[in-house]
Amino acid sequence: MKISVVGTGYVGLVTGTCLADIGHYVTCVDIDEAKIAKMQRAKSPIFEEGLEDMMKKNIEVDRLHFTTRLSDVLAQTEVLFIAVGTPSDAEGKADLQYVEAVAHEIGKNLDHEIVVANKSTVPVGTARMVESIIRKYYHGPFEVVSCPEFLREGTAVYDFYHPDRVVIGARTKRGADTMLKVFEPIKGEKVVTSVESSEMIKYASNAFLATKISFINEIANICERVGADIDEVAYGMGLDTRIGNKFLRAGLGYGGSCFPKDVRALSQIAGTNGYEFKLLKSVIAVNNDQRKFLIEKLERVLGGIRGKKIAVFGLAFKNNTDDVRESAALDVIELLQGRGVAEIRAFDPQAMENAKREVFNVQFVSDPYDAATGADAVIIATEWEMFSKLDWARMKEVMRQPFILDGRNILDVHALSKLGFTCISVGKGKEALEIPVTKSVKV
Ligand SMILES: NC(=O)c1ccc[n+]([C@@H]2O[C@H](COP(=O)([O-])OP(=O)(O)OC[C@H]3O[C@@H](n4cnc5c(N)ncnc54)[C@H](O)[C@@H]3O)[C@@H](O)[C@H]2O)c1
Repeated sequence: MKISVVGTGYVGLVTGTCLADIGHYVTCVDIDEAKIAKMQRAKSPIFEEGLEDMMKKNIEVDRLHFTTRLSDVLAQTEVLFIAVGTPSDAEGKADLQYVEAVAHEIGKNLDHEIVVANKSTVPVGTARMVESIIRKYYHGPFEVVSCPEFLREGTAVYDFYHPDRVVIGARTKRGADTMLKVFEPIKGEKVVTSVESSEMIKYASNAFLATKISFINEIANICERVGADIDEVAYGMGLDTRIGNKFLRAGLGYGGSCFPKDVRALSQIAGTNGYEFKLLKSVIAVNNDQRKFLIEKLERVLGGIRGKKIAVFGLAFKNNTDDVRESAALDVIELLQGRGVAEIRAFDPQAMENAKREVFNVQFVSDPYDAATGADAVIIATEWEMFSKLDWARMKEVMRQPFILDGRNILDVHALSKLGFTCISVGKGKEALEIPVTKSVKV
């Protein structure tokens, strides 16, 4: 099929490239000229496992193209995905200005029947809004469907091929069938719903996952007080299939380009529809507090952090991505700066360039041992696997004081304490810390 994808961020570029890979003829459109020029040379503007090779392969067989001009490709398009950003506005609402701009552009240039699929995360009612904008200009038949995206940055290409589900919200059988044809080669359950349900499934899913994270962080905070170990508790809980073992890792809390804004947006949508979503408000408050609690803990253990030198390991909002949007690591840096830390040296294997645009008065270094040199404490802010494999004996030699705040619970506290470190982790009560965990605990 002939497909256009408008917006080539983490969602649009992965979707466009993978759709080409399963045999469609795809043109990706973006207003960012530099980005388009880079992609035309088969270079990915984002770090995502396997993506660049797949781009290259599909450009070579002429199934993947890039342009800044939607008007040039619309005439040949059967299905158009909207995958532009929907950031939070000042009140926490989803800012739909980019979606609206694309809808106007489609309307002005459309001359034949197409299916427009909203892949951006948008409030219920957005498909209707897109439809009415296009209708202002074009009076022929077309349909706007909802096709929310559930990929996880870091494993986005894998997730395209192995989705838990593909959700399609359509008004007509024809619209639904067109979308089912697009995703035909993809295994995984296809769920066809009303457009409104589909739009809601996305927000409800993200809100639920964020709730799980805040829930486990609250349990972790209680574990510390009662002598339990959150990793053991989460493992024991997660074996219950009604609960599931995902998103039960205690730490600094959620961040990223989706959860924070989507949770705010759903809370806002509820409010404007006359319903106070009390649970979600608490989820947000718990998440904000979690970073503060951990920094306060470090402050107590160090006997104050004013004037201290701190190394921050990890800047991305999660491992295996270069995305730093609403990253907990950046919040940590701001909290440290607010408390008068003298020097922050930061390292991340992929996200340093993006972080440099977001936080200031930080020394970014390309080696973790360099970052830790002379430091009073190391903070693990992102769960990159490499951090658990570092030579911590060497790290201790270069540090001024042997303190670690493991904000992602990825280090072996017992091995580190044998090396002479004081390791602050999340949700490990004093009693739990005295007995090394012998079984492998994976959550
Ligand atoms: N990033 C994720 O993990 C993820 C997962 C699921 C859903 N989503 C949702 O998908 C949407 C896109 O997210 P993202 O992270 O890919 O965004 P992004 O910010 O990385 O990319 C958006 C792209 O859209 C382009 N754009 C803006 N206006 C345009 C226009 N008028 N015409 C053409 N291009 C335009 C921008 O230049 C940018 O390249 C959001 O609604 C987001 O909530 C994101």
